[in-house]
Parts: sequence; C-alpha cells; structure tokens
Amino acid sequence: MNKEITVVAVDGPSASGKSTVSRRVAAATKDFIYVDSGSLYRGVTWKCIREGVDVRDTQEVTNLLIRMNMELFVENRAVRYRIDGVDPGQEIRGAAVRESVAEIAAQQPVRVYIVEKLRTMAAFGSLVMEGRDIGSVVFPDTPFKYYLDADPEERARRRSAEIKVSEGTDDVGAVLNALKRRDRKDATRATSPLQIALGAKIINSTGMGIEEVVQVILDDLRAAGAIPPAEA
Ligand code: CDP
Repeated sequence: MNKEITVVAVDGPSASGKSTVSRRVAAATKDFIYVDSGSLYRGVTWKCIREGVDVRDTQEVTNLLIRMNMELFVENRAVRYRIDGVDPGQEIRGAAVRESVAEIAAQQPVRVYIVEKLRTMAAFGSLVMEGRDIGSVVFPDTPFKYYLDADPEERARRRSAEIKVSEGTDDVGAVLNALKRRDRKDATRATSPLQIALGAKIINSTGMGIEEVVQVILDDLRAAGAIPPAEA
C-alpha cells in the first residue's frame, strides 16, 4: 500500500449500517473515495445470471471470470464499474442477485478475483471500503478497522424499509429470515468468512445514531493525523 494512502475498513453483516456510515465518512473528508465491495460480488452474480451461468458451478463461474472484463472507474468520489462495457445499475439490488450473491461470494476463484480488484483501488487514493473481509483479508495492515453490528431485528427493520421502497413489499418476517440465511452463509463459508478482523473496533449501532458512529471513525482518523482537524 502506498504510504500516503489511508484505508478505512468497515466490515459487518447485512444492514448493519455499513453503507450509510462509510458514505458519510468519505463525504466528511476532502478526498476519500467510497467503495462498496459487495457491489462487485453482486456484479459478478448479475453477470452469471445474464449469461445463464449456473451460480453453483464453480468451473462455469471461473470460465466467466476469465472471459469477462470488469473495468473500474471513479465517479463522484465513489468507485464504480462496468462489466463488458455495461453498467448493471440497480439490477444488482434486485431479488435475483440478492438470492444468489452469497453463493457466488463463497467461491474461492471469485474471492481471488474480487480481492485483487479491491486492492488495485488503492491506486485511486484514500478509501473508505465496506464489506465482510476488508480488515481481515483485503487490507489487513490498515490501522482503521471497524466491525459494525446491530441486532438482527433492527437490521431486518432497516433492510425491509429499503426493500419496501424499492420493491413495494413490507414483509419484515420474510426479510429477517432471508437476512439470517445470508448471514449464516457469509459467516460459515470456508474462504474469508465474515469475521471480526484482528484489531477491529466493534461498534453495535442498535439504538445509536448514524452520526455518532461516523464521528467515532472521524475522531480516530483525526487523532492519527490521517485527516486534518478542520476537515470534518
Ligand atoms: O447490502 P448488504 O450488506 O446486504 O450486502 P452487500 O454488502 O451488498 O454484499 C452482498 C453479499 O456479497 C454479501 O452477503 C456477501 O455474501 C458478499 N460479500 C462478501 O463476501 N465480501 C465482501 N467484502 C462484500 C460482500
């Protein structure tokens, strides 16, 4: 990692507040770039579905990774990508991708492919990167590691509120079950399972305002001299 580059690793389960917190931390600084690492796993899943590749067939998935081109770029201080020239947009948030992404993310060749992409992003500059294995695998040397958590019911409430807006359903029970299933798969997979990285600060955001969480991270960055006192 370049010496002047700072990476803030924000890991945690689904709907623990990672996205909102990470975006706000980046926005509160002058030049940090926001990275949603999950969107890359979702992108590979989207591409599999689009190409009719069986998401459980690691060989087929690997062949797809070899022939596809995921091109990274920065827009509005966030890393985005195109796959074979196409921006999947909101399709990566849909039910089809949501159902299969944990299956895809559990496969070793997919992880090797995405982790490499995530590491190359340091060339763009300082990063706030959210995910499941950022502090443990992708950037284990960064001193800024956070593990965000919230009670499952709170996470289901947050996620169902989002899905209600995007898909018009408000079945919190079903969302909770799907969330638990995906978390279980993420936490128990053999390669890079969701875990608390060594040295990570654990923040349970149940009943805690987003701003409070953001401030904890900004205070750490300021104390270490990674951002100037006046910047946020
Ligand atoms: O938005 P939500 O937290 O539900 O999910 P996401 O961050 O978009 O990630 C979707 C899926 O990608 C997760 O359930 C994991 O299976 C996988 N993922 C991963 O394995 N490693 C990461 N660093 C990020 C996401």
